[in-house]
Amino acid sequence: MSEPRFYVTAPIPDPGLPMLRAAGSVEMPDVAPDPAALRRACESGDYDVIIAQVRNPFDADLLRTARIRGISNFAVGYDNIDVAAATANAVMVGNTPDVLTDATADIAVLLMLAVGRRAVEADTFVRTGHFSGWRPDMFLGRDISGATLGLAGFGRIGRATARRALGFGMRVLFSPRPPGDRHVGDDELGEFAGRVRQVGWAELVGSSDYLSLHVPLTAETRHLVNAEVLRAMKSTAVLINTARGPVVDEDALVAALKAGEIAGAGLDVYEHEPQLAAGLAEVPNTVLLPHIGSATVSVRAEMARLCAENAIAMARGVVPPHPVNPEAWRS
Ligand code: NAP
Ligand code: GLV
Repeated sequence: MSEPRFYVTAPIPDPGLPMLRAAGSVEMPDVAPDPAALRRACESGDYDVIIAQVRNPFDADLLRTARIRGISNFAVGYDNIDVAAATANAVMVGNTPDVLTDATADIAVLLMLAVGRRAVEADTFVRTGHFSGWRPDMFLGRDISGATLGLAGFGRIGRATARRALGFGMRVLFSPRPPGDRHVGDDELGEFAGRVRQVGWAELVGSSDYLSLHVPLTAETRHLVNAEVLRAMKSTAVLINTARGPVVDEDALVAALKAGEIAGAGLDVYEHEPQLAAGLAEVPNTVLLPHIGSATVSVRAEMARLCAENAIAMARGVVPPHPVNPEAWRS
């Protein structure tokens, strides 16, 4: 068998690159490829597997002419890839689940606390020399304990967020597949049976003090949170998004925040990342992070390891440890 050939669109942490280099040849452009350069790399026939980032789009057009065996995405989410087109063109896709679940749930909770307790505003207040002593009316925020957390999506990260929220004494509601319904029985709930309550999407939206999004970006979840949903939320509620930006209509969110239809938002992801919707940066009751859900040293190292394992397996013609579309090679 010839030596595996990898194309890495952006450097990944150790042990990812050394693993790839030990298994085959690695091409990594100095400048991250734009869509045209990515397409040229995919159709060149020079590479077996592309090691990709969430900002690298693989659409049906690119996949039709691609001469690659696989795409190893450095992420659990894979909405940057048209998976149906990948499958139709016998391109296997791999991702990096589980290892980033806790870190991303931590960021969801961090955003809840930061918005609810006004941590960023208060930090700026101290740094800019405005703190002149304790006052009973200074930076009054919203309770976390006793508040109702609504989870849109109850998969790995939704559940890890529930675990943390229960520790804070929150009441936890969830909708597993919003806006639709799918009943989750006690056997599937496992450790959460009797501790969290499943509700429909409308009830989740209307009764949450913190509404936190944990669904993948798909055709069904694009703009799941739109102007109508924002209007149906409590005026005291806070929206948290660590899932994907386009799950929220960001222009509608800015309008809702300005109009006081909801009280605040904590965002790690953006509809047109890295651009922000007009006015978002100026709304005071928001905390905005630069897509750092999985950004800890150890988690990124584990993601790099999984990503390299997936890539090496695919280059050798073996189904990877974490396939998104194992059916891609069945025919
Ligand atoms: P997961 O375990 O697959 O959970 C996804 C949840 O969404 C499940 O409840 C699932 O329902 C539901 N769902 C699936 N397809 C849906 C659809 N079409 N419409 C509505 N609901 C749907 O995924 P995860 O590991 O928790 O990750 C969730 C997302 O978080 C990822 O896709 C990614 O976009 C995002 N993420 C972001 C960061 C960050 O850095 N901010 C880090 C990691 C992940 P079923 O159980 O019925 O399938
Ligand atoms: C990050 O956004 C991921 O999907 O892993």
